Amino acid sequence: MRTTDLDRIQEIERASFTVPWSRNAFYGELADNHFARYIVAQRGDLVVGYAGMWLILDEAHITNIAVHPEARRQHVGETLLRYAMAYARSQGAMRMTLEVRVSNAPAQHLYRKLGFTAKGVRRGYYTDNHEDAIIMWAELGQFDGRIDPDEEAGAAAQGDAVPGAGGEKSAEDRRGGRRPGDAGEV
Ligand SMILES: CC(C)(COP(=O)(O)OP(=O)(O)OC[C@H]1O[C@@H](n2cnc3c(N)ncnc32)[C@H](O)[C@@H]1OP(=O)(O)O)[C@@H](O)C(=O)NCCC(=O)NCCS
Repeated sequence: MRTTDLDRIQEIERASFTVPWSRNAFYGELADNHFARYIVAQRGDLVVGYAGMWLILDEAHITNIAVHPEARRQHVGETLLRYAMAYARSQGAMRMTLEVRVSNAPAQHLYRKLGFTAKGVRRGYYTDNHEDAIIMWAELGQFDGRIDPDEEAGAAAQGDAVPGAGGEKSAEDRRGGRRPGDAGEV
């Protein structure tokens, strides 16, 4: 993901979430968060989806994944997440975690398909409607730590990590949830 993608990212974000991240939130992730990695999926020049994660030691935390409504059910989300998992493994992560709304069946199906299992609940995690979050984890051992060069060049998911320093607020704070690692896991 590049800063020049942010207009389109905002379009997809607004079409995808009740509490969308602001443009500044994405900018901060790209420019200031040393732990953040964001990738986009493109059709030609058009960004159709994106995913982000924080890489902290041997754990990866998915902060965001969304596909434009017109591009859904075409395995864009799956390609993004598979790439994110392989990339995280290549950077030394052994496991990956994320939170998902209890009502978000499509996302839960996607995560289960890729090997995530529910390990706990954060009660009232989402501040807009106090909905619970399911905490899911996946082991990344199945990946050999190499990124498929065809996939990287070819297009469904292409990634660009933009390292920087520091980060004021966590990604989940911005969406009305809480930061990775907060209390509530069971
Ligand atoms: C969740 C999301 C990213 C999935 O992206 P997508 O590109 O449409 O999903 P894919 O086509 O890659 O689907 C892969 C698998 O996920 C599951 N899945 C995806 N959408 C589904 C739906 N609407 N109903 C049931 N299963 C679904 C299926 O298992 C599917 O595999 P299959 O096609 O072989 O059955 C997309 O729906 C989205 O952007 N939603 C809004 C944002 C969001 O909720 N993000 C997750 C926050 S935790």
